[in-house]
Amino acid sequence: MQKKIVVREAVQEDYSSLTRLAWQLGHQAESSQISTRLLDLLQRDDHKVLVAQVDGEIAGWVHAFLNRPLHKDTVVDIAGLVVDENHRKMGIGRRLLEAVEDWAKNQGCEQVTLSSNITREGAHKFYQNIGYQRAKTQYTFMKELLK
Ligand SMILES: CC(C)(COP(=O)(O)OP(=O)(O)OC[C@H]1O[C@@H](n2cnc3c(N)ncnc32)[C@H](O)[C@@H]1OP(=O)(O)O)[C@@H](O)C(=O)NCCC(=O)NCCS
Repeated sequence: MQKKIVVREAVQEDYSSLTRLAWQLGHQAESSQISTRLLDLLQRDDHKVLVAQVDGEIAGWVHAFLNRPLHKDTVVDIAGLVVDENHRKMGIGRRLLEAVEDWAKNQGCEQVTLSSNITREGAHKFYQNIGYQRAKTQYTFMKELLK
């Protein structure tokens, strides 16, 4: 039987489930850090954190935000997306991104964009499967700032 997927806005109490799934995304954040960041994001209109529930359990989340460059149209950017490894390929990722796309349209945006590490081949197939096209290849530069 197909399981029912419910997508809803995240609430503060979700932070430990979000932390568990962040680890599956490869980010070893402390739950206290996720809790603090979530508290901040939930108060912002230009950020959206959504969760997908299956049988009442959180099985995925997405964090999207309005990226407003000076020189280009505002787009919605995906900051993070993960589906629990025991619940993949059952349509949860698609549902989460459909909900982000609805939000983007409501915000007047014509594009949803994201960057994905070159190693995430499965994710790339997923994105292409649900209508995202590879737009360009680029380097990410960073500089550690001394305290
Ligand atoms: C990428 C990810 C979010 C996909 O979520 P999901 O819930 O498994 O995806 P869905 O079930 O909604 O899949 C939608 C479509 O993509 C396909 N798909 C999903 N993962 C795929 C994969 N690894 N390889 C090939 N196709 C895939 C599905 O089969 C489905 O196709 P269909 O509609 O033709 O049946 C999930 O695998 C994940 O969390 N991966 C680890 C974290 C990650 O890489 N996040 C993205 C960072 S950029």
